[in-house]
Formats: sequence, C-alpha cells, structure tokens
Amino acid sequence: MSTKQSQKDYSIYFQPPSLTDAKKRGKEDIKVHYDFDIPLELKELGKDKFYLIQTYGCQMNEHDTETIMGLLEQMGYQPTGDRHQADIILLNTCAVRENAEDKVFGELGHLKHLKTAKPSLILGVCGCMSQEEAVVNRISRKHPFVDLIFGTHNIHRLPNLIKEALFSKEMVVEVWSKEGDIIENLPKKREGMKAWLNIMYGCDKFCTYCIVPYTRGKERSRRPQDVIAEVRELARQGFKEIMLLGQNVNAYGKDFEDISYRFGDLMEDIRKIDLPRVRFTTSHPRDFDDHLIEVLAKKGNLMDHIHLPVQSGSNEILKKMTRKYTREHYLELVGKIKQAIPNVALTTDIIVGFPGETDEQFEETITLVKEVQYDSAYTFIYSAREGTPAAAMEDNVPYEVKRDRLIRLNDTLNVYSKRNNERLLGQTVEVLVEGESKYNPDILAGRTRTNKLVHFAGSKELIGQFVNIKIVEAPTFYLKGELVGMAVAN
Ligand code: 5AD
Ligand code: SF4
Repeated sequence: MSTKQSQKDYSIYFQPPSLTDAKKRGKEDIKVHYDFDIPLELKELGKDKFYLIQTYGCQMNEHDTETIMGLLEQMGYQPTGDRHQADIILLNTCAVRENAEDKVFGELGHLKHLKTAKPSLILGVCGCMSQEEAVVNRISRKHPFVDLIFGTHNIHRLPNLIKEALFSKEMVVEVWSKEGDIIENLPKKREGMKAWLNIMYGCDKFCTYCIVPYTRGKERSRRPQDVIAEVRELARQGFKEIMLLGQNVNAYGKDFEDISYRFGDLMEDIRKIDLPRVRFTTSHPRDFDDHLIEVLAKKGNLMDHIHLPVQSGSNEILKKMTRKYTREHYLELVGKIKQAIPNVALTTDIIVGFPGETDEQFEETITLVKEVQYDSAYTFIYSAREGTPAAAMEDNVPYEVKRDRLIRLNDTLNVYSKRNNERLLGQTVEVLVEGESKYNPDILAGRTRTNKLVHFAGSKELIGQFVNIKIVEAPTFYLKGELVGMAVAN
C-alpha cells in the first residue's frame, strides 16, 4: 500500500503515481478481503441528497461506476439526471487517449459555474486520469474548485473521502500509486438484462503506447470461486447476459501461485452455469491458448464473438509496440479460431500513425484486414501518453497522413463489415431483444450471438426475451430483420 506523504496544497495525503515504480513491480502478495462495510455514521451522509456520475472510456470504467453508485446508494444518496439537483457530481475519467482527457477538462470548465451557483455541491474526479500525476497537478492548479480526487485503486474509500470533502475547505486528494488488495464484497448497482463482471484487474503487458498498466496497476486475478459465485448470483437474479471484464482476460490465473487454473478453465466452469449468454473482453493474441479455443468451440452460452485487438499488421511496428506477437502468429491464431468456430465474428482494435509508421508498414495493416475480414473494428489515431515508452519515440508522422490512413483503414474495414453482414441475408438468427431502437420507438433492437445489432418490428413485451429473426437487409453497421418466433437460448 502507499506510504502517505503530506503535501502543502492538499487537505489530506497524496503520493504521486510513479511510472518508474510501476515498471519495477514484482510479486507482492495481493490479499483478498471479504469484509467490506460502510461505517454506520457514513450511511446517513447522503440522506435526501442526489448524485450524478458522468463516465468516460471503457466498460471497466462503466463497471467501476456501478460500484460507485452502489456505495453512494448505501450512503443514502439517490440518482438524478439533473445537474442542478445533484449534491455530488463525479467524473469517472479515461486516460487512454488525449481527446478523452480534453473532454474532461472541458467539462470541468462547465461545472465551475454550477459550483459557483451552489457552493455545497461536491465535485469529484476519479478513474484513470486521477492516476496520472500531471493531471492531479493540473487540476489542483487550474481547477481548484474541484473538491475531491480519488483513483482506481481506492474506490472503496469513497464514503470516507466524501466525509472529508464535506467537512474540509481544501481539495481532498487520495490516489494510491500501488494497486492494493482485491475487495470482494463491494456493492454494485446493476440495471437491465446485461451485467458486467470483473475477472481480473490491471495489466502487465506494458505495450509501449498504453497508459493502462500504470493507471490500473499490476495484473491481479479474482479467485475462481469468487467469480463463479458472482456468475451464479447474476444467473439467480435473472440476468440474460454477462460480460467478463479484464484488460487482458487471457492472462487470467497467471498470477495464481497455488493453483493451475487459467481462462479456459474458468470458461469451462462458467459454461455449465444456467445463464443464457456469456461474453468476455479484452483478449490479447499472445496469451490466447488452444484450450480456450477448444472450450469456446463448445458454444452453448459462450457467444460466437471474439474481440482480438491486433493494433498493427506490420512486424516492425508490433515490435516497437512490444505486442510480443508477429503478424504470422496472429494470422495463425485467427485461422485456428475460424476453423474451430466456423461462424465466429472477429472484431479488433487498430492504431494508425504509431511513431515512425511508414506507408509500407501501414499497407501491411490493410493487407492484414483484408486477410482476416473482420466484422468490425475500433480504429484510433496514435496519441502520445506522457510517461509511456512510445511518448519518447520520435512522432514523425504528420497529422494529415495519420488522418488519411484512418479514413482508408475504415473504408477497407467497412467493405468486410458489409460483406459479412450480407452473408446473413435470408438466414434466421437468435436475437436477445435489448430495447427500442434509438431512432425509432416502433422498432426493437437486439443482438445476435455474434454481437451484431439487429432492428425489427415487434411488440415491446419482447424486450428481454430471445427471438428468432430472419435477416432481410444488411447495411454496413447493422442488420434489418423480421420476427419469425420465440427462441430458446442455447
Ligand atoms: N493511442 C491511440 N490508441 C490507443 N489505444 C491504447 N492506447 C492508445 C494510444 N496511446 C487503443 C488500443 C487499445 C484500445 C483500447 O485503445 O487500440 O486496444
Ligand atoms: Fe494496454 Fe497492451 Fe495492456 Fe491492452 S494489453 S491494456 S493495450 S498495455
């Protein structure tokens, strides 16, 4: 745990995150705690008060927000969508690219007016940005009206920190530079038919462009019995789909010293639980093993979709990124997956304009996309993150070139998205009906086993149910279908 060090400007204590220390981390013991509770006196603090949380970034952050909501509601706070009604507003932030950070700084500018109009409002910043020393310094200098900053490793301290913030005139900053223990029984506020669930925390891959290993700490897997108990509980509560979360789920269990139990074993055990749909994200090609492919091929409640970030199709760039696999290894893995799970949907993440990326190296990404024929992809322009090894590399690709590469890449990806969608024309597929379409309340929206969005006309009573849909149109980004009848999942 962090040693605390007093800082003149901060009302409590703050040890700045150290990127150098993060890289040196070793095999310190991670303890698992099962006895979390909120002290009685803090349970009254939020009585008759309202909270609002704005979440940025990945599903891990969305899930952290559910924990924060759970904590706040145990303190008596109630949710509101109205900023003027809120007594506490938290920004749960993302640090993965610069534009995500810019959005948060812009938002702080807007919130300043609210704070001036209502001084009792508690304004807080949490999530990945808080783990960055430069961000904390910038907020304390330029946005001194912020009341509270806490990080990703001490969410469970929120009730105590809110108390500090309520009774202190100075900014309360508590960020742990080291990850700390796993706390099992934190409350979580889940809604709807789909639930997120962490199987592990942190990342030890240290891809050279990525800030996550610093902001989220070292890889720590939850014990299998705890994950399985939570899955069973979610099944009992009637959730239709769960998403297992980890920065690199394929590294699950690598840190267990007493048992040999990996992600494939976990999926084999979860497969037997009566819960209709199980998904996971994110995979790393390096750790994706044959046993896992074998288990996923048994299907049942394990869905036919794998998100397999490739980042680049060039071996030189993959090496500079320290991805620890080659283009050939990646393509071989894709081949094995497609053979074992013939109708699998593959999606990916790709970065263009990594420092030094040449036209030829970018072309290798295009040829890889053509070979894999992804169903869809998240594509990004490289963004330098302070403290990461890539930030020290010469970023010699002009912005216009990066932007043109992104456009070309997306155009290429879209060809295959459409082509893969067209393959489904005339077929009948199982769809979990998730709700009304965003654009037309008379149309329902749902997802196939391969995670494709499907629109069709039907009664609202179908929401939350499994139906069979015949695909009649295949635009690039979704499918249109007709209701054939009810489906029995699995
Ligand atoms: N610049 C651009 N994209 C990034 N990603 C991670 N770090 C960066 C960065 N510095 C992308 C990767 C990752 C996804 C979540 O975000 O593609 O898989
Ligand atoms: Fe970042 Fe690489 Fe870890 Fe993914 S595997 S979180 S890209 S360091």
